[in-house]
Amino acid sequence: MHHFTYRNDELYCEELPVKIIAESVGTPFYLYSHATLSRHFHAFYDAFEGVERLICYSAKANTSLAILKLFASMGGGLDIVSGGELYRGLLAGFPPEKIVYSGVGKRVDEIDMALEKGILMFNVESLEELDLLNQRAGRIGKRAQVALRVNPDVDPKTHPYIATGLKNNKFGIDAESAIEGYKAAKRLPNIRILGIDCHIGSQITEAKPFRDALENLKGLIHELKRLGIPLEYLDMGGGLGIIYDDETPPLPNEYAKAIVDSLKRIHLKLILEPGRVIVGNAGILVAKVLYRKKGKAKEFVIVDAAMNDLIRPSLYHAYHSVWPVVKAGTKTIIADLVGPICESGDFLALDRSIADVKRDDLLAVMSAGAYGFVMSSTYCSRPRIPEVMVRKDRFHVIRERETHEDLVRGESLPPFIT
Ligand code: LLP
Repeated sequence: MHHFTYRNDELYCEELPVKIIAESVGTPFYLYSHATLSRHFHAFYDAFEGVERLICYSAKANTSLAILKLFASMGGGLDIVSGGELYRGLLAGFPPEKIVYSGVGKRVDEIDMALEKGILMFNVESLEELDLLNQRAGRIGKRAQVALRVNPDVDPKTHPYIATGLKNNKFGIDAESAIEGYKAAKRLPNIRILGIDCHIGSQITEAKPFRDALENLKGLIHELKRLGIPLEYLDMGGGLGIIYDDETPPLPNEYAKAIVDSLKRIHLKLILEPGRVIVGNAGILVAKVLYRKKGKAKEFVIVDAAMNDLIRPSLYHAYHSVWPVVKAGTKTIIADLVGPICESGDFLALDRSIADVKRDDLLAVMSAGAYGFVMSSTYCSRPRIPEVMVRKDRFHVIRERETHEDLVRGESLPPFIT
């Protein structure tokens, strides 16, 4: 459930017509609903009622400071993958002891920063990383708290680019090596073993892969106990899918039930790293129609947003619904919704039945709150677009539109080019 609804044929975000915001900030822009964000966070948190848990929102899905601050104020933790995300997370007010750090390629400077700040846990993805952590922690007289990220080799049945828990993926450590890893970790003086972690992929629309992953992990947890390596935390990662089109993902409480039922017997504190399920349907991308044109084979609607603003359709052939901001009639056309960029891969929707729009009409690309703005770029020297948050009948620009000057910030001309 989200708060983008029609009233008298006009699209509203909460209590505010989207058109009013467009007139004020210009197009294109990202628009987020405060009520939807908080509702989704609550729903996810409440779904695990009765279980000791830490919901570490996965920053990568949407790192806007305003959104991070909202979740921090709701008692959430944070899942990060870079020094930059750590910086943002701390700036937004997350306590370090609620931050977990995943990623196959943590750099020395990033590790040092996280150690110095005292984060809860490093989700370690290789034995070399474990050694480095031990070394860096020793240098400053600290112990690095770790979980090993186990690759449980289950098929999450999602797009191959976002499947992460199969044995041919670069992520985590296979179960056998993980046991060796834990034994090694136990011997390392500056490492404190805190937990076990997995993350099997993203936009997962069934409960079974999560259940399978957990079963695999449980075997390991028992084996570790037998070896005298008790754990405190189980981090199940993120990955719960959302409805973009006609998917039927488990609801947060169905997902929770699938995990909690089998967790009862192992008594570990649970960490979850949801991203998309919290922010995905809390945001839209609003664009304006620049032109219509009929080709020999296809009809095109050219809008002012492009693949540099929302890359998901181009990169994963992802589906995003397209709604008119003002419904002007019931007539529809079948068209490709494309941007101004000079590549045929620059599209937001293909062969789509959309409203019979004309120049200057506004369109909303739905479900764009996750992996939208964060994956945008300035390709073709297109300044990054603003982000706006609505609460009830008020809006606030939480990130302003970049300018042409912003585009060249930091560039300099070498003296040997005159
Ligand atoms: N934890 C870890 C370790 C992750 O790698 C991810 C996502 C998450 C949590 C959050 O997953 P979520 O709950 O959002 O599914 N750009 C792609 C998605 C990439 C996901 C990467 N990792 C997309 O636009 O679909």
